[in-house]
Amino acid sequence: MKNIEIKFQMKLKQYEELEEEEKALVDEAKKATDNSYSPYSHFSVGAALKLENNKVIIGANQENSAYPSGLCAERTALFYANCKFNDVPVTCLAIAAKDSAGMFTEEPVYPCGACRQVFVETVSRFKKTFKVLLYGTKGVYVIDSALDLMPLSFDGSYL
Ligand code: THU
Repeated sequence: MKNIEIKFQMKLKQYEELEEEEKALVDEAKKATDNSYSPYSHFSVGAALKLENNKVIIGANQENSAYPSGLCAERTALFYANCKFNDVPVTCLAIAAKDSAGMFTEEPVYPCGACRQVFVETVSRFKKTFKVLLYGTKGVYVIDSALDLMPLSFDGSYL
């Protein structure tokens, strides 16, 4: 038998400690929460991503009365980016969320499993990983590689 350990490191920074470019992306993600359509959960998630061509694309969760038909903020942003700039890699993605009282969450919001799977696809598609910034009022998690959020992932190499 062999024990296999998978380690993961991320940084916890105060907003003020972020690089200017990171702050700007977090600001866009916070702003994008206003574009959320979330009449069912009242949880407004915003995402903002930067592409290698320096364009910023935003996304927000879009809910549906048939719940599974809705989509998370992260995937809205990633799919839109892929449609608009078909061959441009993502360099950084920021996420922020407001609760039902309209307050930004204290704790950073973690992307769901389906979004993480799409992160993996994005990395394999462009053969380049990207940084993830998870905003909370108490601090921002800085994750250097989106792949760290999805160890042991399934990807196209199996197919
Ligand atoms: N949601 C996101 O948009 N991103 C996440 O990372 C977590 C969850 C959305 C989906 C749904 O509209 C609402 O938050 C509550 O689950």
